[in-house]
Amino acid sequence: TRDVKIGLFGFGCVGQGLYDVLNNSKNFRADISKIVVKNKDKERPLPSKYFSFDKDEVLKNPEINLITELIDDVDQAYDIVTNALKNGKNVVSANKKMIAENLEELVSLQKEYDTSLLYEASACASIPIIRTLEEYYDNELLYSVRGIFNGSSNFILSKMFNEGLEYQDVLKEAQDLGFAETDPTLDVGGFDAKYKLVIIICHSYGLFVDPKEIFNYGIQNLTAFDMQYAKEKGLKIKQIARVYKTPEDEVVGYVMPQFVKPTDDLYKVDNEYNGVVVEAAFSDKQFFKGKGAGGHPTGSAVLSDISANRYDYKYEYRKRKTDAFMRFTNDATLDV
Ligand code: HSE
Repeated sequence: TRDVKIGLFGFGCVGQGLYDVLNNSKNFRADISKIVVKNKDKERPLPSKYFSFDKDEVLKNPEINLITELIDDVDQAYDIVTNALKNGKNVVSANKKMIAENLEELVSLQKEYDTSLLYEASACASIPIIRTLEEYYDNELLYSVRGIFNGSSNFILSKMFNEGLEYQDVLKEAQDLGFAETDPTLDVGGFDAKYKLVIIICHSYGLFVDPKEIFNYGIQNLTAFDMQYAKEKGLKIKQIARVYKTPEDEVVGYVMPQFVKPTDDLYKVDNEYNGVVVEAAFSDKQFFKGKGAGGHPTGSAVLSDISANRYDYKYEYRKRKTDAFMRFTNDATLDV
């Protein structure tokens, strides 16, 4: 194993969550060398010597061998991640929008500069769904991946269903709990779930999909009345993201609110939890459930990626899988 010296970008909900998770991990110590933040005046829970305002100094520091990008701004995140890869640094990121919009380029940068980019926390936070999807050896017969990928929307829908509240009454709570994005339209409009779906499509079928090609419809127009209607019918309404393969081998994806029956595994996935149902020819049906938002659950997935950086074989393995994806990319077609 080797020592991991981290240059951390961002110290918001997820950055602080990672810090806590790391501090409570007895058997694995990674060293956060510097934390790059923007706002010089903000009070922070750590001494000022930990912080830097100079991103280039940290990106170019030869002592730092892993960049962990946990900021909100997509353009800045793209800048940090691509520069780090070009400087030969391994990277961990949780930025689903940035990754989904640039996945093809990021994968090819890893190859070109012989580095590694891991982003397990970007899809469904605490559920290790990216690694899991890579483990299916019947990819060609992976029928579908279907789930609840946005914790904030699920939290809002659960509260509306259980407490008869209106959408507006619950959104603020989801924001206060640190589940929602800075721009909550990304959550409730189905965009965040769509970015995660794009990443999941890549790791399921080896396809690079432009998020703009996938239809998403949000939960903003649902009312307490709709929830009451669902309840009377013995159903729930959930924001479902789904990708599936047709018998003609076309891959179809979408995000939209749907009725869910009590026999559906996703029926019992409430509050900020995410759920994923994977169906494949030989492994049959599998169901995963876990916290999909919040500092600690997301921080735990980031730490898992950081920990993988102790071992060289981990990212060699990842690259082999990426090569396998390319084979599928050439053959498969996308129809959305
Ligand atoms: N805003 C996201 C959610 C955070 O609610 O799921 C986790 O990606």
